[in-house]
Amino acid sequence: MTISITHRDPAALGGYGSILVRQRRDHARLDRMMNCWLAGGSDDELDALWQDIVQLVFSHAFAEETVLWPVLRRVAPGGEELTGRVEEEHQAINELVAQVEKSPDDPRRAEWIRQAFTLIRQDIRDEEDELLPHLREAFGDRRLRRIGAVWEAVRATAPTRPHPGVPRRPPGNAVRGVPLSLFDRLRDLAPAGGSAARRVAFTAFAAAGAAAAVSRVVRATARRPKGR
Ligand SMILES: [Fe+2]
Ligand SMILES: [Fe+2]
Repeated sequence: MTISITHRDPAALGGYGSILVRQRRDHARLDRMMNCWLAGGSDDELDALWQDIVQLVFSHAFAEETVLWPVLRRVAPGGEELTGRVEEEHQAINELVAQVEKSPDDPRRAEWIRQAFTLIRQDIRDEEDELLPHLREAFGDRRLRRIGAVWEAVRATAPTRPHPGVPRRPPGNAVRGVPLSLFDRLRDLAPAGGSAARRVAFTAFAAAGAAAAVSRVVRATARRPKGR
């Protein structure tokens, strides 16, 4: 039986650089931002907050699909079914948020955003209670920190917008998603000034590095799935 990572001490999860602690940190940040949005504010404040939530949700999820779930499928009993369920949740979030983004004046927009929050919270529960504990069981602290570093590198260069047409699994998600991240980040930066081009160039460079890092960790994990 797996133990939820939600209330465990960071030391028991591999320390602060571990993938489990990094995941939990993002989940807590998302939870705070969603609560803040639900508490209300001016239209401009809510729009800015919504954009921050969208950027974090999609970069976080893309890095999960690229780095974590392939590893989990290899080491967890029932990993195929567990990751399949979370991929369906990610797809539903993609479709709902794409609908919100396409229809800025639709009167149902706030309701769709609330529905997206419900799906995001379900995704967080499934990950913390059912999927991520398997990584704790399979790997030692050092490996959890290495996976954490690779996940963070991919997240830093991942798409930041919904792309429901992009496959949820590698290699299709990386082949189609990584180039889209350049366009997403350009949109995120607009209407920033002259530094935008430099930041986009950096993103392209970093994305190539992240792709190489992914293939390294996947190869390393495939060689020693139970290594500690
Ligand atoms: Fe997550
Ligand atoms: Fe997720």
